[in-house]
Amino acid sequence: MSSVDRRLLMDRSVAGRRAVTVPEPDVPLTPLPDASLLRDDLQLPEVTEGEVVRYFSLLSQLNFSIDTQYYPLGSCTMKYNPKLNDEMASLPGFSEIHPLQRDHTVQGALQILHELQDMLGEITGLPSVSVDPLAGAQGEFAGLLIARAFHEDRDEGEQRNVALIPDSAHGTNPASAAMAGLEVVTVPSDEHGNVSVEDLRNLADKRTAVFMLTIPNTVGLFEPNILEITKIIHDAGGLVYADGANLNALLGLAKLGYLGFDIAHSNLHKTFSTPHGGGGPGSGPVLVTDELAKYLPTPVVGEVDGKFSLVSPERTVGRLNGFQGSFGIVVRAYTYIRLMGLEGIKAIARNAIINANYIQSQLKDDFDVAYDRYCMHETVMSARRQKANGVSALDVAKRLIDYGIHPPTMYFPLIVPEALMIEPTETESKETLDAFIAVMKTIAAEAQESPELLHSAPHHAANTRLDEATAARKPILRGSDEAAD
Ligand SMILES: Cc1ncc(COP(=O)(O)O)c(C=O)c1O
Repeated sequence: MSSVDRRLLMDRSVAGRRAVTVPEPDVPLTPLPDASLLRDDLQLPEVTEGEVVRYFSLLSQLNFSIDTQYYPLGSCTMKYNPKLNDEMASLPGFSEIHPLQRDHTVQGALQILHELQDMLGEITGLPSVSVDPLAGAQGEFAGLLIARAFHEDRDEGEQRNVALIPDSAHGTNPASAAMAGLEVVTVPSDEHGNVSVEDLRNLADKRTAVFMLTIPNTVGLFEPNILEITKIIHDAGGLVYADGANLNALLGLAKLGYLGFDIAHSNLHKTFSTPHGGGGPGSGPVLVTDELAKYLPTPVVGEVDGKFSLVSPERTVGRLNGFQGSFGIVVRAYTYIRLMGLEGIKAIARNAIINANYIQSQLKDDFDVAYDRYCMHETVMSARRQKANGVSALDVAKRLIDYGIHPPTMYFPLIVPEALMIEPTETESKETLDAFIAVMKTIAAEAQESPELLHSAPHHAANTRLDEATAARKPILRGSDEAAD
């Protein structure tokens, strides 16, 4: 906690000090619970109100946040989330309804769900949508169950049990495929970072249930051979799945359905402006062609003569969670899309792409670029040049903290050594990008001239270099020195 006072609240305790003085009650006292339920050894810090406020305010300032600093975290998209979205989601008509209320009492909420289904269908070109999944990975799982149900209905369920997944896919893809009971077969990338079409052609056969493509891939690249790829898979009788968790670079510019995808998911807590990270809640709608609509998870929202109701698709893969998805996130995404409109949606994609390419072009003399070609919403750079001088991607990331910038994602994707995955996002100004570029150049120079400075970074943070493995495995959660088992 800054240079001010690093003592825990307990250590500031002085016997008899109080934060509040409660007046003598002038109403009858309620009896205390049975004595066996009460603790008499409860240790609480005895401090003044001012000390409590100061302590927790300082503690809160140790958080790194998009509202306070620049946060170019690759893959996880820490973009600016308009505050209006939160205001809308907090309206009592949304925040105080119950998921078990009868349909006729929550027509407005159902209409929002229905309209968001339509908007996402329009944006992606995959018209049938369920916003039920609570995370991207759950959307993937739902999509893969849909693929399995489709093949089962054609009596090919047992035979088609392979998911082909490129080595540049997001890590959740193979995990979801395995959970859905599919065997994962990896498709290598070629020297340009694209799917190796030759390998794919050899691998696609009558066992192929689905080919899953993260698009743009985790190296931040669009797949230029996508039409050829979707044709290869369809010719082999398989379905094509798009991991569209991050649609920032495609919004209004390319529709997944038009590219030949049959199934997709998208993370509302990424592209559609709900904060990502921090452990949730999330929302990962699953989107499919009309042909696959009957398999969607239940419920979806239907409309007849202006009346909205929850319906269960004819051959649904089932229910994924207790109710109707993450409704608060749905309201935020709905507000965001309505606020932006079609032109605004396109501007998001264009600015996300321009910002990432600007950073890449300005830094490529200082750091290696994973693949030297135009990127989409993020650029994957590498500290392998610095590594030759003993400085790792981790050292670079830690040093950024000293300059007040959140580190980018490191060591991901796995196919790029010493990876630094930078996603500037669309809302950052040129001044912010230039400041980041200047800091990265300074760090590249420091890596040459004084590598030890980077090995011990951060120097100006509340905590300096941690033993991260121990911190993750034995976190100290109680504000004392005892590590949790
Ligand atoms: C490309 C991609 N796919 C899938 C996911 C999984 O989403 P979630 O973390 O909501 O399960 C992520 C997560 O960030 C992602 O970046």
